[in-house]
Amino acid sequence: MSRTVEVLPDLGALVQRSLSIVLEQMQQAVAERDIFTIALAGGNTPKPLYEAIAQENLPWDKIHVFWGDERYVPPDHPDSNQGMARRAWLDRVPIPASNIHPIATDAADPAIAAQTHEQLLQDFFPSQVSEFPSLDVVLLGIGDDGHTASLFPHTEALQVSDRLVTVGNKSGEPRITFTAPFINHARCVIFMVTGANKQIALSHILAPTGDSSTYPARLIQPQGQLWWLLDQAAGEQINDFVP
Ligand code: 6PG
Repeated sequence: MSRTVEVLPDLGALVQRSLSIVLEQMQQAVAERDIFTIALAGGNTPKPLYEAIAQENLPWDKIHVFWGDERYVPPDHPDSNQGMARRAWLDRVPIPASNIHPIATDAADPAIAAQTHEQLLQDFFPSQVSEFPSLDVVLLGIGDDGHTASLFPHTEALQVSDRLVTVGNKSGEPRITFTAPFINHARCVIFMVTGANKQIALSHILAPTGDSSTYPARLIQPQGQLWWLLDQAAGEQINDFVP
């Protein structure tokens, strides 16, 4: 794993930096494998990145989009990560509908939804030799509680090591989430973090040692590249805790 921590002056610069990394990974993936797979983060931070990607002239037929986690709501619900990405990006470009792989959230039992998406991923990546397939890029954020994707502190999802997808739990609210081992098999993981309210969590997540049950983003130690892209507000104290 190669970890790079960069502090950018503002959100615009952070978006441009993350865009450049995504496009570089995309170019390499298409050149090597004729396909590019990316898992999206939810929340607010990545929305301007999705809007920026929508402005690019890309080989849309070779790009496959997944989500690293999803709230357990319909896609037209304001909280839906799928809905946000479709409005910001996917509805604005000629990407084939079959290249978009949302997490279905219509099963009565979230555990069924997790199993269904697990099967979708297993079917999509049949040729992977390892037990975990490798996505080209996984985009992530963190909460001020140290969660990432829907891997929340002190929840059962943190212990799941034999699945690609599991049920997350945000204070009793079910989520569907990629597991840490699946995320860690990605070729490139990019965290996008903004806001002073993330400083304390960041100090625990990026410190050499710490408790990953309390700060689950510490679990993300990918085999490939790991990028932490922070705005000035989030990264202000970074030199105090990143060796
Ligand atoms: C979600 C995300 C979640 C998000 C963080 C940061 O479904 O909400 O996947 O992990 O990345 O909560 O969210 P913000 O970018 O809104 O701060």
